[in-house]
Amino acid sequence: MISSILQGAKILATGSSVPDLCLNNEDLSQIVETSDDWIINRTGIKERRILGDRHKSIIDLASSASIEALEKASMNPADIDLIILATSSPNDLFGSASQLQAKIGATKAVAFDLTAACSGFVLGIVTATQFIQNGSYNNILVVGADVLSNWIDWSDRSTCILFGDAAGAAIIQSCPKEDNGILGFQLNTDGSKSFQLSIPYEKNNEKVMQKQSLNIFQGQFKNIIMNGKEVYKFAVSQVPVSILQCLKSLNILPEDIHWLLLHQANERILHAVANRLSINSNKIISNLNKYGNTSAASIPLALNEALNEKKIKHNDIIVISGFGAGLTWGTVVIKWKC
Ligand code: UT7
Repeated sequence: MISSILQGAKILATGSSVPDLCLNNEDLSQIVETSDDWIINRTGIKERRILGDRHKSIIDLASSASIEALEKASMNPADIDLIILATSSPNDLFGSASQLQAKIGATKAVAFDLTAACSGFVLGIVTATQFIQNGSYNNILVVGADVLSNWIDWSDRSTCILFGDAAGAAIIQSCPKEDNGILGFQLNTDGSKSFQLSIPYEKNNEKVMQKQSLNIFQGQFKNIIMNGKEVYKFAVSQVPVSILQCLKSLNILPEDIHWLLLHQANERILHAVANRLSINSNKIISNLNKYGNTSAASIPLALNEALNEKKIKHNDIIVISGFGAGLTWGTVVIKWKC
């Protein structure tokens, strides 16, 4: 892969942001029939953050995560060439990335949304890397942000206990080919199973307009629906296959990796995937006990925390995999460059 690129790409800095409002399992047991024991044993989640302030939105979370990353990189927002906002809960169906561009003052940046649910950040990194490695852009801000509390059915105990709101950001920068830090990727989609996890748009029976042969039906988005068992089985069977394919293409053995950073959906999924790959559990990066499943934000949120804790060292190999609605799943392998 390294020979076909014009320039290398590496993650320069990361940032993250979560809302102040913390909802623990005990709080949730006042809302639906559940318990702290059930949630911890089945998911590993203890608490999650919810954007409770009606005057705040995904853009507030995305911009504070971005500003942290920009400050760490000592970079002026005007130096960003492209912003990719991975989200499934935008402010505006026409796209929210432009609002983020305006809010952080990245006046020269092109900005667009990328919708791939919990795989969104992985797809964002891979997309950004193409623009950099082919020489088009030098500085790209990739943000994973979701406010799924807007789309949860708060009477459905099988989903409302899982999700939290957050944003995470990474600045990807060009570098000499020899220092390339984004080594390779493997991506997949299976649209035939999209019904297993969805926020569907449903049209009403009544027409909003009827004129001669013109019938217009309108509708609205529904709440999250998920077949948890099927999504669980999909994740533990398909994610290891993606990781192995990606590692094989790079001639890296599973035992050579330093960190396994999976989409933070369920502690049991993280361990099942690690087990299948014979990766020691002390290499798993996990923070979902504090934040739950934050969808597109979960990977950059956990990455930023691990970096802030100085867990990840120069030249460490990090295997990052996202999976979720679509169904989409995929892996990107990174060699960390300080
Ligand atoms: O980010 C996108 C990717 N999403 C995922 O990866 C989610 C993957 N799925 C999962 O993480 C798990 O399937 C869940 C955590 C969602 C559910 O865990 P499970 O072990 O698959 O539980 P289950 O759905 O099989 O339910 C087991 C029992 C059921 O009761 P019965 O039928 O055995 O009597 C449920 O009604 O647990 C019951 N249950 C609950 N009980 C207490 C379901 N939700 C709850 C709850 N509290 N919140």
